[in-house]
Amino acid sequence: MRPADLIARKQEGLPITMLTAWDALSAIVVAEAGADVALVGDSLAMTALGYDTTLPITLDEMLHHCRAAGRGLEAWRQEQLRRGTKRPAPLLICDLPFLSYQCNADEAVAAAGRALKEAPAAGVKLEGAEPETLAVIDRMVRSGIPVLGHLGLTPQSVHQLGYRRQASDPVAQERLRRQAEHLEAAGCFALVLEHIPAELATELSGDRRIPVIGIGAGDACDGQVRVTADLLGLTSRQPPFSPPLINGRGLAVEALQQWISAQRSARPATRPAVPAAPHC
Ligand code: KIV
Repeated sequence: MRPADLIARKQEGLPITMLTAWDALSAIVVAEAGADVALVGDSLAMTALGYDTTLPITLDEMLHHCRAAGRGLEAWRQEQLRRGTKRPAPLLICDLPFLSYQCNADEAVAAAGRALKEAPAAGVKLEGAEPETLAVIDRMVRSGIPVLGHLGLTPQSVHQLGYRRQASDPVAQERLRRQAEHLEAAGCFALVLEHIPAELATELSGDRRIPVIGIGAGDACDGQVRVTADLLGLTSRQPPFSPPLINGRGLAVEALQQWISAQRSARPATRPAVPAAPHC
């Protein structure tokens, strides 16, 4: 799967699926499930690393997780070859973390380039569409780096926006329309819209040539993205727009409890009791 294939999927009216991965194991699960895109999202700062927000994670940490996800996808590809199956591997995209692209344009392009050079990402995602952000996206794209945009609830701006639904009034909606237009013009290959009114997301999916991938943005986008740990019910802070499919945490705890009690109750009769240590 390549970024251009996602645009083709939109043209063919095929829904796009994107799931987050944070290590080799999760990347294999996401690939085996058949997702089109494996996103190493900076939400891993909260789900896998236990931070309160996405802000503390560094570029080096993101690359460490992206490399692990890349190794998982490579192992999955090898498994496909051995099985003689030809399922395409998901496109691997790496989030650029807070302050890796906001401070200056040269650093931003270098940070994005590292995701392609040092981790096997095929593109990067970054949040917002301020003029400086549009300028760095333009430079990245002209340097050969595919960029996925992200508007609406942008968690790196949590201290300004909170985790509330965005674009709720006509002024904010008009601003978001313009930003989506600018991101497409800057060369983004797709756009994530998070926690905005469904009608606006539907309108933008119709207006934009690039795929619009929603989370908390209704069912009518060109595709959907979810944080895999949320869908599997592994996280304790579940966003209201992303209910779990299974109680993964409960299932895992139950299975492990059964194993622990089996160990405790199955002391074999044949095992000799350890003699007490002789007193000196
Ligand atoms: O970091 C992330 O997982 C994301 C998705 C919610 C789109 O940005």
